[in-house]
Amino acid sequence: MKDTKALNIPTLSGNLCNQNLLQAAQQFQTPLFVYDFNQIAQKYEQLKLAFGGRKMLICYALKANSNLSVIKKLATLESGADCVSLGEIKRSIIAGIPAYKIIYSGVGKQDYEIQEALKIGILFINIESKEELLRIEKIAKTMNINARISIRVNPDINAQTHPYISTGLKENKFGVSIEEAKSLYLYAHNSKVLEPIGIHFHIGSQLTKLTPIEESAQKIASLAHSLLALKINLKFFDIGGGIGITYNDETAINPYDYAQAILETLRGLDMTIICEPGRFIVGNSGVFLTKVLLEKENQDKRFIIVDGAMNDLIRPSLYNAYHQIIPLKDTKAHQSLADVVGPICESGDYLGKNIALPKLERGDILAILSVGAYGFSMSSNYNTRTKCAEVAIEDGKLRLIRKRESFEDLIALEKDYL
Ligand code: LLP
Repeated sequence: MKDTKALNIPTLSGNLCNQNLLQAAQQFQTPLFVYDFNQIAQKYEQLKLAFGGRKMLICYALKANSNLSVIKKLATLESGADCVSLGEIKRSIIAGIPAYKIIYSGVGKQDYEIQEALKIGILFINIESKEELLRIEKIAKTMNINARISIRVNPDINAQTHPYISTGLKENKFGVSIEEAKSLYLYAHNSKVLEPIGIHFHIGSQLTKLTPIEESAQKIASLAHSLLALKINLKFFDIGGGIGITYNDETAINPYDYAQAILETLRGLDMTIICEPGRFIVGNSGVFLTKVLLEKENQDKRFIIVDGAMNDLIRPSLYNAYHQIIPLKDTKAHQSLADVVGPICESGDYLGKNIALPKLERGDILAILSVGAYGFSMSSNYNTRTKCAEVAIEDGKLRLIRKRESFEDLIALEKDYL
């Protein structure tokens, strides 16, 4: 048996204790996402503090969890937003994040998204290619407006994470090489409407090693130095997101070490640091509650069939990701290994494999941990399953922050065409 405390393995405690979660399941039914808002705030403050008094802006990466109440909570803490679509920009504004704290990234932006971002007056657009730079220049000219930009530089560094979420190698689709970045900065510098104010890198997600981040930051800082020599004086050093969290027994990067490593590389550069954390802020703060429908055995294999499925939480199926599963009942009873699976018609529909669990009855609730990031935001309606409700717990109090989708909601955009 692992000593969960010593290994720092996430457990159910504080706002996310058994009693509160059972109450949430009873009050709002399952499957259900529950988020600890106090923990979200604490993570945000922890990162902010790690950078001490240094000029910096945390732009929370909405893609991790874009519930309006989550964004609003972060807005009250003075967070900015890292967005990858006009939809996310609009969510940020509605939730109270000022335009001057919003940045916009992504390899394929649509013209209407660029126009709207410029009109709203966000802090800057992260450019991912020469084509995009020219496109934005053209749009800005027609709108007779200046476009503040930053260039995403691909440092060609192995982030040592899951290949699907590694983005900083030259074979990945993201950003431009250091050489190309230099010529794009020169071009932008000479343009009448482009205003290069930042430099950006993001090498991947769920990073548990500091060295790749440190090496990338050094490469990008040295590029910023050489641009300065060309009189291109950038104001923002955007280090992307990617700080990993503990799902099982991984050792997470200490925010203080992370901050020190970045600050060290920035010596001699008077730039404001921007970071774009998603998972670090919300990952461990979310729990997914699902109800046992039945237990079945095929040959020797034990299956627990639950009401949650891969459409609600796709990380196990998509990345073979591990999430702890804890029954909200006495776990001291005899345990045996089981796969926890959903009702969807695919063998890949599982939430956990070979999990030690006691005998479970219909109606028992399982808590699936560390799903605050890329949980609900990646959910779908596959198999005509309605999307879950979402609930916040703050200071021990539960409140609904997204209503469970109804069948009527789900067919609303189709039914008029019959
Ligand atoms: N900035 C950029 C440019 C990004 O592409 C991402 C994540 C972030 C910030 C936030 O990264 P974070 O701090 O959350 O690691 N669905 C995957 C993760 C995909 C991450 C995509 N980009 C998962 O469930 O693990």
